[in-house]
Amino acid sequence: MLDFDFYNPTRIIFGQDRLESIDKYVPSEAVVLITYGGGSAKKSGLIDQVKAALGKRKVYEFGGIEPNPHFETLMKAVEVIRSKKIDFMLAVGGGSVIDGTKFITLASYYEGDACELLKCGFARITSAVVKKTIPFGTVLTLPATGSEMNCGAVISYGHGKFPVMSELAFPQFSVLDPTLTFSLPKIQVANGIIDAFVHTTEQYLTYPVDGKLQDRIAEGILLTLIEIGVTSVAEPENYDARANHVWCATLSLNGIVGAGVPQDWATHMIGHELTAAFGIDHGQTLAIVMPSLLEVRRQQKRAKLLQYAERVWQIKKGSEEEKIDLAIKKTREFFESLGVKTRLSQYGVTADKIPLVIEQLKYHGMTALSETRDLSLDISRRILENAL
Ligand code: NZQ
Ligand code: ZN
Repeated sequence: MLDFDFYNPTRIIFGQDRLESIDKYVPSEAVVLITYGGGSAKKSGLIDQVKAALGKRKVYEFGGIEPNPHFETLMKAVEVIRSKKIDFMLAVGGGSVIDGTKFITLASYYEGDACELLKCGFARITSAVVKKTIPFGTVLTLPATGSEMNCGAVISYGHGKFPVMSELAFPQFSVLDPTLTFSLPKIQVANGIIDAFVHTTEQYLTYPVDGKLQDRIAEGILLTLIEIGVTSVAEPENYDARANHVWCATLSLNGIVGAGVPQDWATHMIGHELTAAFGIDHGQTLAIVMPSLLEVRRQQKRAKLLQYAERVWQIKKGSEEEKIDLAIKKTREFFESLGVKTRLSQYGVTADKIPLVIEQLKYHGMTALSETRDLSLDISRRILENAL
């Protein structure tokens, strides 16, 4: 097992009708900014419920954080933080609202040009760089990213999506009430299953380091997602299926699966470019890239692919090559059973567009990806061509 340093201070408040806990965990004198997205939380009445839970505290609102949150939008919230002397934030929404709120907290009192924070990549931004932040909690409405219990964010700027990581950006608490996700469109539920699935495989389908428990936690999440995925999409108000979906999504990216094991993330980095270039949803980009990447990288990932075939898909018969082929086929079929297309061409992206994606990967420094840092631009090109 590899060495690791695990830290996660986020309190999880899980279950139905837990909004009143907000009162307990937001300081009673706080001046609060509620951040939200394009209006779903406003329309459903959730923002009013959150305000009611905040009682007599002074509350401001900042709506309009778009999917794949934009730097410019978030900087408008920074102005509100400064002018209204906000000292607590409450993010109500999916990954985009939560990520956006993380960036707002880092940018609010950053002394330089906040654009610089986008250049740090996976290096964690420390209190030596950002001297003051605004604590925040979240109310999750879309189970997918794990942002509610991690310290990462992905921020859009120009033609790119930039990871931002900082231990200063962990939520203090997150309310995970599965019923708040019942209003999601089916495609967002499906995206959420796929995002959680691929977060898990990015930290599992690499090479063996004898992380026995990590492997079994990963396999437990994958098996659960396979078991409840179709139901979570098809039956929006099935509480049990959705509760399992929510908890899988949170656990798949809160640091537990990846502690002490190699991590890939190439599917995500290539996927981010597809979102930036063609506006394809994050979960859909993963459904396109991941099966193709596994086909192209089957030698590097051979041992773990065989383990995945046997333990997750229960494939016991056939040659090693046949087992791997079938495991990848079943993965693709699982994504498609959720109603998500897995081929680039099905999203209108043709072969002549691939050089543009490769250019963007190069421009963003994504030239040596994967757990072994040998996934070059050439291999990214092959993965994309294979995904057409
Ligand atoms: O904006 P509103 O009106 O709220 O509508 C949203 C949005 O249109 C809607 N929605 C959310 N909850 C709803 C709802 N509609 C009805 N009922 C509800 N309960 O869903 C749409 C998509 O929301 P978004 O937050 O963009 O989706 P998601 O949670 O999938 O987040 C995607 C973003 O997270 C980043 C992605 O790159 C992308 O920018 N990621 C963040 C990660 C992290 N912080 O750790 C890791 C991930 O790999 C990912 O990269
Ligand atoms: Zn993701």
